[in-house]
Amino acid sequence: MADLQASEEDILLAKRIISAAERHDIPALTVLLKEGSANVQDPTAPIATTPLHAAIASCGKAEEGKEASEEAIKTVELLLQNGAIWNDLNQQDETPGCIALRLGQKKIYDMMVEAGVRAEMLFAKMEALGLGQDINLADEPKDAPAEEDETRDEQPAAKKQKIDEDSAKEVQQEKVVDPRILDDVSLDNKAYLKSQLRYREGILLDESDNAVMMDWETQIMQRHAETLIPKKGLRTMNVGHGMGIVDTAILTHEPAMHHIVEAHPQVHQRLRETGWYDKPNVTIHEGRWQDVLPKLVEQGVVLDAIYYDTFAEDYKALKEFFSEYVIQLLDAAGRFGWYNGLGADRQICYDVYTKVAEMDLHEAGFDTEWEDIAVPEGLHGSDQWNGTRRPYWTIDVYRLPVNTFVK
Ligand SMILES: C[S@@+](CC[C@H](N)C(=O)[O-])C[C@H]1O[C@@H](n2cnc3c(N)ncnc32)[C@H](O)[C@@H]1O
Repeated sequence: MADLQASEEDILLAKRIISAAERHDIPALTVLLKEGSANVQDPTAPIATTPLHAAIASCGKAEEGKEASEEAIKTVELLLQNGAIWNDLNQQDETPGCIALRLGQKKIYDMMVEAGVRAEMLFAKMEALGLGQDINLADEPKDAPAEEDETRDEQPAAKKQKIDEDSAKEVQQEKVVDPRILDDVSLDNKAYLKSQLRYREGILLDESDNAVMMDWETQIMQRHAETLIPKKGLRTMNVGHGMGIVDTAILTHEPAMHHIVEAHPQVHQRLRETGWYDKPNVTIHEGRWQDVLPKLVEQGVVLDAIYYDTFAEDYKALKEFFSEYVIQLLDAAGRFGWYNGLGADRQICYDVYTKVAEMDLHEAGFDTEWEDIAVPEGLHGSDQWNGTRRPYWTIDVYRLPVNTFVK
């Protein structure tokens, strides 16, 4: 009975906090947040929501003359100051920022992006200090793009593939115990690299049906090559061959030398079949960039342009790539580009991760210039995604980064 009473009290408090947030009643909310959390949910409500979702939803549509009031903005501020989670999902699979975007509440949307950036930078710092959670696994992209991998890998148990016994054992010992990797190999780079790929017309799929690469990205890849390589005769490198789209684009700029770093055995096979090993000025490095690049640094290799687009790796890998290796391999006047796809199935996650990357790049010594590219019309919901695990791209604009060393 005592427990039930406590639970009823909790529900009542949750209802009062959510209601105060919804009404933008700052005095009441200030008092209530001394008793309860800014992340309460009312389990008895027909649609579960947090105070932050409620505060933003009640602003209404900006285009209908309902620009968020000062009180609404202060309510959002108060909730964030009290620890409201920026990317909590409601039952409609929306974060508070998704609601702000849908309602056209730009000021509140920007506040949510800033809150996301602050939270993700803090998590990264805590993790660096050993205070974070286990981050071996990439979380589901929608909810936590920081740990989002670039998707696309395979499930070894489901296919008759030739994995040598030692490798298979290693996967077993390291990861197979985790059913999430069995279900989706893109959650772990090493599991992905040991899994089976399928090249199909216009698409490269992994064993878990993730799209590793798709040909609708051709224009983006070509633009990456153009922005990185302003003239002929440069020294270039691409990490992650995939369907070879960016490598083909790079060669049209006639580099003096072009390095390709690729780790998947089936992609090596593809490189062989398509004649890449015989192309003049091209050197293929078989292996993970984590193993290949230290050797190139040791050999004193210097490059004018570096591009990075791997798969089944999270943001931490990208950060390690530029802050450990690009700074050593890139000429002082060189350019660095990377596939900006983190969080691309949710606008706010994309905006948060674009900003986090820009800040980390700056800390590592790079300036970033962005170029916005509209993705092909009709991409969303098109049958190009048929047979894939999920559409990894649902937003309208690709933000293409070009990095140079800070002058
Ligand atoms: C998204 S695809 C690259 C697509 C490419 N930009 C194109 O234009 O076709 C990613 C590639 O990175 C490779 N890869 C994944 N992890 C890697 C790693 N740690 N080191 C090197 N290559 C890796 C994958 O096998 C895959 O071929």
